[in-house]
Amino acid sequence: MLILGFESSCDETGVALVDASGAGVPRLLGHALHSQIEMHQAYGGVVPELASRDHIRRVLPLTDAVLAQAALPLTAVDAVAYTRGPGLAGALLVGSGAACAMAMALGKPVIGIHHLEGHLLSPFLSADPPEFPFVALLVSGGHSQLMRVDGVGRYSLLGETIDDAAGEAFDKSAKLLGLGYPGGPALARLAEQGDPTLYRFPRPLLHSGDLDFSFAGLKTAVLTQVKRLAHARPEGPATPALAEALGEQAKADVAASVQAAIVEVLVKKSVAALDATGLNRLVVAGGVGANARLREQLDAAGARRQARVHYPELHLCTDNGAMIALAAGLRVQAGLVPLGEEAPRYAFDVKPRWPLAELGQALA
Ligand code: KG4
Ligand code: ZN
Repeated sequence: MLILGFESSCDETGVALVDASGAGVPRLLGHALHSQIEMHQAYGGVVPELASRDHIRRVLPLTDAVLAQAALPLTAVDAVAYTRGPGLAGALLVGSGAACAMAMALGKPVIGIHHLEGHLLSPFLSADPPEFPFVALLVSGGHSQLMRVDGVGRYSLLGETIDDAAGEAFDKSAKLLGLGYPGGPALARLAEQGDPTLYRFPRPLLHSGDLDFSFAGLKTAVLTQVKRLAHARPEGPATPALAEALGEQAKADVAASVQAAIVEVLVKKSVAALDATGLNRLVVAGGVGANARLREQLDAAGARRQARVHYPELHLCTDNGAMIALAAGLRVQAGLVPLGEEAPRYAFDVKPRWPLAELGQALA
C-alpha cells in the first residue's frame, strides 16, 4: 500500500511517499520539502495569502521529485493523504485540493490527517521508534499540549497551554530582541552565548498542580527587561529601536534566560505527566522539539526517573510531508481509515481549528 502525503498547513510545503504494506512501521520511500521562510522573512511573519500561492507553485514539482526518488510512477500510488487541519485555511485548501484532484484522477481514496497527529507519530520514522503507551509533549508554533497516547488514534489530552504556545513564546521573545522570523531557532542560537541564570523570567503555572501551560506573561516580562536594559521608559511602546540599543551580550543573556524559563516549564510538566500517568516513555514532537537545551534537559530528567525519551529525527521535527504520509499509513494499518465504498468523496474538506483530542473521542 503506497501512500502519497501532502503537508501545507503553514509555511512549509512537504510531500512524501510511504510504503504501508504489511504490519511493520511504514517505510519512507521519498520526501521533499520547500520552506517559505525566506519569502516571509521580509514581512516578519507568515503572510497567509502568500503562503497559499507558494504552496500551489510547489506542490506538483515536489511530488515529481518524491516519485523520482522512489523511482515509481504516480499510478503506483494507492491513496493520497493530506493535512486536513489545523492550520491556515487557504494553505490547507491547497494540499486538500491537490490531494483530492490527484486521488480522483487515480480513482484512489483520499485520507485527511490531523497535523498534530502527524507530529506526534513522527518519531516512528526514527531509528529508535517508541512503543505504546506513551506521554507526548507536542510543542509547535501553534500548540503546546501533553497527551496520553495509547495507540494510533487513541489520544487523550492531559494538559495544554491556556494562552500562547511554547513556539510562540520563543518567536515573540525573539521579535522583541530584533531577531526576526522564525524566531525560535535564532533565539536558541543566540542563547548559546548567554547566561541563562542572569534574568529570572516567570515560570507560569509551574506549581499549579495540573498539566496546563501559560506562556503569554513571558513576552511582557521580556519586554520589561529589554526596556530596562535599553534605558527606555517602562510605559513606552515596543519598537525595533529597543533591541538595537542592547549590546550583543545583553541580548544573548536575555535569550538564554527566556529559553531557560520555557525549557524548565516544559521539562517539569512533562515529568509531572509521566508521574500522573505512571508511564515511563515520553515522545517529544513539534518544531520546539528541535531545541537542543530542551532535548538535553529532557534526557537528563528522563534518565533520573528511568524514563525513555524519544524524538523525531531533527529534520522531521518541524513541518514535513513524511509525518503526514506516515500517520496515514499507521491509520490504514490500524483499520481506522474507511477505504473502498465508504471512503470520503473528493470534497475539499479542511478544518482550520481542530482539537486533537476530538480524534480520540470519535473512537471512544
Ligand atoms: O511544528 P512547527 O514547524 O510548525 C507548527 O506546527 O507550528 O513549529 C514551528 C515552531 C516555531 O515557533 C519555531 O520558532 C519553533 O517551532 N522552533 C524552535 C526551534 N526550531 C523551531 N524553537 C526553539 N528552538 C528551536 N531550535
Ligand atoms: Zn507543525
